[in-house]
Amino acid sequence: MTLLDDFELIAGPPPLEEYLQLRKDAGLSQKTRQQGAGALAGSWFFCHLRETASGRTVAMGRVIGDGGWCFHIADMATLPEFQGRGLGRLVLDTVVAHIRETAPENPYITLIADPPGRRLYEQAGFTEINPSRGMELPWVRP
Ligand SMILES: CC(C)(COP(=O)(O)OP(=O)(O)OC[C@H]1O[C@@H](n2cnc3c(N)ncnc32)[C@H](O)[C@@H]1OP(=O)(O)O)[C@@H](O)C(=O)NCCC(=O)NCCS
Repeated sequence: MTLLDDFELIAGPPPLEEYLQLRKDAGLSQKTRQQGAGALAGSWFFCHLRETASGRTVAMGRVIGDGGWCFHIADMATLPEFQGRGLGRLVLDTVVAHIRETAPENPYITLIADPPGRRLYEQAGFTEINPSRGMELPWVRP
């Protein structure tokens, strides 16, 4: 019995509504349809897991990348009732494998680790970026 008996691993983005809903249900910040459409169309790689029985998208992750050397993993999310079963790790391993198999040697693979994902990422071999640190530019309404 493996995860793939119950779930289908799909290379590509989920439907827009399911993408937005999965972000919301996983507790991530909500995005507009316009923002979501850009994420779906503009990612370098996307994968998601669909529960075979219901057809629902239950987990996802994606890579924003230049195809050369810079690859940023984003939108790692699993529906709360499906967490702790290895789906996040399967998604993470899939996106990392795709980068390793497709990108030129020595890709720079990054992510911003929110607390719920930290152990997962550490177990998969990610380390803190030292002495650099991630920064953001807060949005100010013009
Ligand atoms: C981060 C997130 C995507 C992880 O997804 P997930 O599907 O729960 O991930 P996994 O099931 O692969 O791993 C989670 C835990 O379950 C454990 N696990 C995996 N398979 C298991 C199994 N069969 N039985 C018991 N535990 C298991 C893992 O070891 C891990 O435990 P740990 O955190 O104590 O190390 C999910 O928690 C989430 O969506 N969080 C909210 C959104 C968020 O913050 N996303 C991260 C943005 S950076």
